[in-house]
Amino acid sequence: MAKKKEKKRSWAEPFKIKVVEPIKMTTREHREKAMKQAGYNTFLLKSEDVYIDLLTDSGTNAMSDRQWAGMMLGDEAYAGSKNFYYLESNVKKYYGMPYFVPMHQGRAAEHIISKILIKPGDYVAGNMYFTTTKLHQELAGATFVDVIIKEAHKPSNTHKFKGNIDIQKLEDLINKVGAKKLAYISMAGPVNMAGGQPFSMENLKAVRKLAKKYGVKMWFDATRVMENAYFIKVREKGYENKSLQVILKEMCSYFDGLWVSAKKDLMVNIGGIFATRSKKVFDAARNMVVVYEGLHTYGGLAGRDMEAMARGMEEMVSFDNIKARVGQVEYLGNRLKEFGIPFVKPIGGHAIFLDAKAFLPHIPQDEFPAQTLAAEIYIDSGVRTMERGIVSAGRNKKTGEHNYPKLELVRITLPRRVYTQAHIDVTAESVAEVFENRKKIKGLKMVYEPAYLRFFQGRFERLK
Ligand SMILES: Cc1ncc(COP(=O)(O)O)c(C=O)c1O
Repeated sequence: MAKKKEKKRSWAEPFKIKVVEPIKMTTREHREKAMKQAGYNTFLLKSEDVYIDLLTDSGTNAMSDRQWAGMMLGDEAYAGSKNFYYLESNVKKYYGMPYFVPMHQGRAAEHIISKILIKPGDYVAGNMYFTTTKLHQELAGATFVDVIIKEAHKPSNTHKFKGNIDIQKLEDLINKVGAKKLAYISMAGPVNMAGGQPFSMENLKAVRKLAKKYGVKMWFDATRVMENAYFIKVREKGYENKSLQVILKEMCSYFDGLWVSAKKDLMVNIGGIFATRSKKVFDAARNMVVVYEGLHTYGGLAGRDMEAMARGMEEMVSFDNIKARVGQVEYLGNRLKEFGIPFVKPIGGHAIFLDAKAFLPHIPQDEFPAQTLAAEIYIDSGVRTMERGIVSAGRNKKTGEHNYPKLELVRITLPRRVYTQAHIDVTAESVAEVFENRKKIKGLKMVYEPAYLRFFQGRFERLK
C-alpha cells in the first residue's frame, strides 16, 4: 500500500496576541552613544534604548491571560498563603518532589543548596557550568569540575545530546578525590553554556547508576527542563509516544533534589523553586530560607507571584507550547544558516549561540570577541544579545588569570511568547549585516572589573 503523504504544516504558536507593548526604534548614532555609555556591556544598556531584547529568556516572558487573572487572586498573608499550597501541590504533581521551598529566583536556591551540602575542600562535578551555580558552589568552598562530554566544547559538532556527562570522566574524578569529597553531581538540562544542549535519559540513567554505586547525591538544575524533555521526546528512541509530563517526572525521579529559576519554563517574571525528596535537606533549607529570603511559605515572593508560577507550571508541559518555542529558535537558526553565519550546532532549546571565534577570527580571546560582537549587533540594529565566553567564565580562583573557555559565544535568546517571526527576521538580517562587515571590527579592553560575575557589570572600551 502506498504511504500516505504527510501534509506540510509550519510550526505556529498556540496563542494569539491580546495586549501589546510599544518598543522604540532608534538611530545608529543614538545606539553608538548608548553602547559607549554602557561600557560596551549589553547588560548596562537602558531597556528603553533597546529595540528587540534578546538578552535573556529569564523573567522576560509573556504571561497568559490565565496567569494574569491568577495575579488578582494573590493571598498576601505573611504566613500560609493559599497560593503557596497550590504551588506546593503542583511541584509534587509535575516534578514529583515531596518537599518544596519557594525562592525568589534560581540563584537563591543555588546559594542555599551549596551551603547545605558543601564543606570547604569538597568537589562538585557538573555538565559544563553555569555562572551563578558555579559561583555559589565555589563560595561554599567547593572546586567545580566539568565532566561534560568533549563534543560539547566543539561548536560545529552535531551530537544529539551534547549535554551528556562523560561517565568515565566522572568515575575517574570519584576515584581521584574519593566519593566522600564529592558533595554532589550538579546536572543541568539543557546546558545553557553549551548552547542549550540537552542530555539523554540514557545518559541520566547511567549517571544515576554510577552515583548509586558510590553513594553520591545528584542535584538537578531543572531551570529549562521542558526543553530537555522535548528533545528527549523527539530525539530519543522509546520516548516518542510519552507525554512531556511523563518524561519530566521520569527525569526528576533520578535526582535527590532540584532547583529551578521559574523565570524560564514557568513563564513568570520572578520566582524560584527548591525541591527535594530528602526530609533532612528540606528541614535545613526551610530553616535557612527565613534567614536569606523570607518565611518558608513565601520565600521572597508575593502570593500573586506564586499563583502565576503554579499556573505557568500547568502551561509549561503543553507539547504545542514547547514545540512552538523550540520552533521559533530553529527558525532563527535556519535564517542564520542561509547567511552562512557560524553558530553552535545542533540548534538548542532557548537560544542561538553565535560562534564568536569563527565570526571574528582576527580578534584574540583576551580582546573579548563575543563581548565585541554583542556590542556590534546592538549598534547595527538595536537588537540586544549577551556575551557567553571569556568574560562570563571569570578568573581562575588560584592564579587570578582569565579562564579561557573553548566556547566564545554570543547568546541570542528568545523570550517565550514575546516576539514575532518578523522580529526574528530583523535579528537574522542584522547579524548578517555585521557578518558582512566583520573584518573592520576591532576588539575591546576591560576597564572595570567587579569581583563577582563580571559579565553583569564589567566595563570596556574600544581598542583603537
Ligand atoms: C541554567 C540556569 N541556572 C540557574 C540560573 C539562575 O537563575 P536566576 O537568574 O533566577 O537566579 C539561570 C539563569 O539564567 C540559568 O540559566
